[in-house]
Amino acid sequence: LNKTTLKALFDDMTSTEKVAQTIQVNGDLVGEGSLKTGPQVDLGFSRGFDFNTAGSVFNVTKPDQLRALQKKAIEESPHHIPYLFMADVIYGFRTIFPIPLAQAGSFDFDKLKKAAQVTARESYNNGIHCLFSPMLDLSRDPRWGRVLESPGEDVYTAKAYAKSIVQGYQGDDGDVSMPGRVAACIKHFAGYGAPEGGREYNTVDMSTQRLFNEYLQPYQAAIDANCQLVMTAFNVLNGTPATGNRWLNRDVLRGRFGFSGPLISDYSAISELQSHGMTTSVEESAKTALIAGVDMDMMTSVYANALPQLIRQPEFAKLLDEAVWRLLVLKNKLGLFEDPYRGLTTTNTGEVLRPEDRELATRLVEESVVLLKNEDVLPLRKGKSVALIGPYADSRLTLGFWASVTGNPMDTVTLREGLKQSYSDEQLTVAQGFNLFESYSNLGAYQHILEKVNGPLQDEQKLIQLALTAARESDVIVLTLGEQFMESGEAASKAHLALPMREKRLLKALADLHKPIVGILYTGRPLVLTDIVPYLNALLVAWYPGTMGGVGIANVLTGVASPSARLSTSFPRSEGQIPVYYAQNTTGRPMGQNNHSERFISRYIDEANQPLFGFGAGLSYASSVAHWQTPSITDNGVLLPYVVTNNSDRSAAVVVHIYVHQPASPIVPPEKRLVDSEFLILAARETVETQAIINQSDLSFFDNKGVSHFQSGNYEFILDVQGQEEKTNIELGGFKQ
Ligand code: IFM
Repeated sequence: LNKTTLKALFDDMTSTEKVAQTIQVNGDLVGEGSLKTGPQVDLGFSRGFDFNTAGSVFNVTKPDQLRALQKKAIEESPHHIPYLFMADVIYGFRTIFPIPLAQAGSFDFDKLKKAAQVTARESYNNGIHCLFSPMLDLSRDPRWGRVLESPGEDVYTAKAYAKSIVQGYQGDDGDVSMPGRVAACIKHFAGYGAPEGGREYNTVDMSTQRLFNEYLQPYQAAIDANCQLVMTAFNVLNGTPATGNRWLNRDVLRGRFGFSGPLISDYSAISELQSHGMTTSVEESAKTALIAGVDMDMMTSVYANALPQLIRQPEFAKLLDEAVWRLLVLKNKLGLFEDPYRGLTTTNTGEVLRPEDRELATRLVEESVVLLKNEDVLPLRKGKSVALIGPYADSRLTLGFWASVTGNPMDTVTLREGLKQSYSDEQLTVAQGFNLFESYSNLGAYQHILEKVNGPLQDEQKLIQLALTAARESDVIVLTLGEQFMESGEAASKAHLALPMREKRLLKALADLHKPIVGILYTGRPLVLTDIVPYLNALLVAWYPGTMGGVGIANVLTGVASPSARLSTSFPRSEGQIPVYYAQNTTGRPMGQNNHSERFISRYIDEANQPLFGFGAGLSYASSVAHWQTPSITDNGVLLPYVVTNNSDRSAAVVVHIYVHQPASPIVPPEKRLVDSEFLILAARETVETQAIINQSDLSFFDNKGVSHFQSGNYEFILDVQGQEEKTNIELGGFKQ
């Protein structure tokens, strides 16, 4: 519709219709059923509320159901306003890619964008308009279960990830009316990734300079990339719940970042303003959220019940009008007024899992798995037999928590199936090793999947004996370990990050055979692996690798692909170090080589300061080096040329990191921080020349009032390939503003 027609429609709407447009409910409330993604309580809608006139329905993902719902909305709402269909499609619709924490570590942002395009196309083909992703909550706390869907601990990485995913979903020009595109709803604004103690939904408290320099940066990058929607966060941020925070949502999100699309509350977050102790009634919660700029109310009846009264006051009627207008503009941008059934036409077959998309997913697995240890065991030698042990050896439950909404474990290729491409039955023996799923009894809606895919629990001693028999008959042991998929994700905070004892008991029994052991870790978060790594001769972090995990991991194990990923998040040595991340400030009494034995320095008396594996760790089968060339100053930054050489006889991908250490300033700089990365594929013995362009804005920082500064002085840039660093220094300052 053109703006005049849309405005005419808007002007003609009754206040009842307007209020209804601000309501979002899941499939349960419109009779279609939904996966549960929040508390199951009576939401308290009045009997007269007509859900056909609501603004949006989420997590209904079957085309037939969506078609039927849309028909009702159009036929039964007075102005025939279509629903906005949203869904928790976080890292794949049916072609499930590795979890975001894994994807970020590939540093292949072009490929992440292509994967997001696949996700958008599959979602579009099945009638979804808007995805509740990307999640851009920077997180440095692996106790928090949602680290799996975050891009990790680093600001630069999270910003690059944000841009790739948003542009992958929406296209570079952000024209979401185009077939095959969907709107991105970034979340959770703001700071949700830093809950105290890593406990889900807990308070977040941080300085303004940290908020601006670090935690807000990824959301801003997504807004700069034109993302269409933003979701609020559940948490209290610096004393005020994010969903009721006017300063955050109006002054920062809209005023400062220039976001003009709809802001939607997270599931029940408006009614939780009362639980937080910010409001004392439904009316007050509605008022607070509306004043804070929340346009759509997810899964509460607060707006539906309280706005009709509230908008008798003109200032609130005006705020409601603004909210509804933003929602209608989004529906119009999506082309829903012209084609409410977009993506649901009968000629559209709902195509998913195309061979080329599965290929892309395989490449992304190869580029996302992180090799953290290798005592010359990998790649596996040809002709040697393998005992593939552990519950993930032949499991399809490798999609991770959020893929439960639209993914299907039956699409998944298991590791055994992947390895069968290279091994005969005689060369590959499989044993379950231990029960992974008995540790989690409250599986709710997922129970049937587990029973179908996983089989019954077995006696531990019997499993160990079967595993030992398989291992005795083989040359190498490949042992799959880790968490099961419901142990990370929303509401899965953990105080203990070590592997369960039964996994350790099996590992120790296998280690007594003195055969090489390759550990493959399936996990949604960094775990504490300090006591198990010594028993492993190689360690590959597989994360939750998605639909094509079995093929991608097999390709890395057999050397068809060389690993290149670098950790997007640090693995602590023990829980007591948390938060442990690389971009820390130095203290006044840092630990140095000379003062190890002194008392009055910043350290633990019972633990090292460093993580077990830090951000950026990751080995390769190739050995590459990089060297700086002469840098030069540009109009607003610095140009840093460098050469990278693959010194090995095989082609390999390599991820280059460039860090900066800034000169002294009143807001003290971290020890170092990432300012650029490059993903390169080098042929055997190849050398490439390339360069980084770092702008003044990349080097600027915010003070505690949110004002940006650039510090003139001597900048040290660190070129890092496979953990080997080379430094160059350059004097910067006096740029044209
Ligand atoms: O999108 C999610 C959000 O991330 C957490 N709460 C529920 C929402 C909808 O399912």
